[in-house]
Amino acid sequence: MGDPTRVYESERTAGRTDRGETDERELDTSLLDTLGLDAFGRFSRRYKWVGDKRPWRVSAAAFPEEGTPVEQAQFLVRYAVLAPSSHNTQQWLFTVSDDEIRLFADTNRWLTVADPDKRELYVSLGAALENLLVAAEHFGIGHEVRYLPGSDSNHAATVRLSSGSERSDDELAGDERSAEASTDRRDSRLFEAIPRRRTHRGRYQERAIPREDLRALQEVCVEDDVTLQFVADPVKMGTIADLTARADRRQFADPAYRRELGRWIGRGAFGGSWLGSKVGKLLVTYLNVGRRQAREDGQLLRSTPLVAVVRTKSDGRRAQIRAGQVFERVSLLATVLGVQTHPMSAVLEVPSLRRELTDLLGRSEWSSQHLFRLGYAGGASEPSPRRPAEAVLVD
Ligand SMILES: Cc1cc2nc3c(=O)[nH]c(=O)nc-3n(C[C@H](O)[C@H](O)[C@H](O)COP(=O)(O)O)c2cc1C
Repeated sequence: MGDPTRVYESERTAGRTDRGETDERELDTSLLDTLGLDAFGRFSRRYKWVGDKRPWRVSAAAFPEEGTPVEQAQFLVRYAVLAPSSHNTQQWLFTVSDDEIRLFADTNRWLTVADPDKRELYVSLGAALENLLVAAEHFGIGHEVRYLPGSDSNHAATVRLSSGSERSDDELAGDERSAEASTDRRDSRLFEAIPRRRTHRGRYQERAIPREDLRALQEVCVEDDVTLQFVADPVKMGTIADLTARADRRQFADPAYRRELGRWIGRGAFGGSWLGSKVGKLLVTYLNVGRRQAREDGQLLRSTPLVAVVRTKSDGRRAQIRAGQVFERVSLLATVLGVQTHPMSAVLEVPSLRRELTDLLGRSEWSSQHLFRLGYAGGASEPSPRRPAEAVLVD
């Protein structure tokens, strides 16, 4: 198969040609687009589309037991698409064959301003990969992961599938290529949590997470090149709150950052009503809400019982994908335990502040990849939209 992102690339080019030299950003911030009246939108709709809530209704009972291996593999992708991703961009594409699922970055959805080095993109891909593996295990399908298997840098991973009994020795031993958590280390309860997991951005109660639950959360990180560091010390938490507030002010002062965020809000990526999305987009794009955001994020962090940081031994793509896997595994177990999670990435998006965070955490040889709050909150969060598996499966 060629580069799957080319499908989107050509649509984009077609859109550009038809509208002359107008670029996506200009069109996207236009009033017409904001009001959903962009006459040229059909050209770019596919790569702007954030989906709807129907993918959350996936039912394990619909698994095609008697179907072909391809049909079964395609079914697993229904769970992968429920993964979290930065700004809910869902920057993933999949190809499926008899015995393989290949995972690609959909670079048309890359957050070029917030995530210029694509770190969050690969963390998000790791989260989708983890859902895929959890689902495979649930349906008794063996798997072996090869990270970055080809010369195409967008090709994040290939998952070789096999019926449970055919699993390779490589996988069981966990060699360099497939050194991901082996099947028997994953908690079977994680599967049921996939459609229930949500990002919860509200204030968390002061109630501490019981020690045994903390231990269980810690133990899901079995990778030797990834570590999960918990921060509960109020002084350190205060510093993380300050760093985050500084990051927010820095980010929101940049009109390009606000435009990019506003674009995804306007598309409905964070859920809510159509009108709310459009108003939110206008507010974020044209007003610098950085001070307010800084104040709110600072308060959230100061009142949170626990922050976790996923850190890796190297800062390469493989490490970032594996960080995403660990984050998703923790989020799923947290869901099982009734604990909410909320990634807060601003501090990691500003290189100097990311370094300050790493210094604060100690062991500076470990790169900080993903930071999130954990805690208890009342009230359920609404699911955010998703593109269905059919929209992200390419030939
Ligand atoms: C790499 C990554 C970075 C994220 N950063 C943030 C963040 O800084 N702030 C935030 O509120 N949510 C953040 N999120 C959560 C996403 O916005 C969320 O996953 C997405 O909107 C989909 O919603 P859901 O998790 O409820 O399904 C991040 C998620 C990932 C995977």
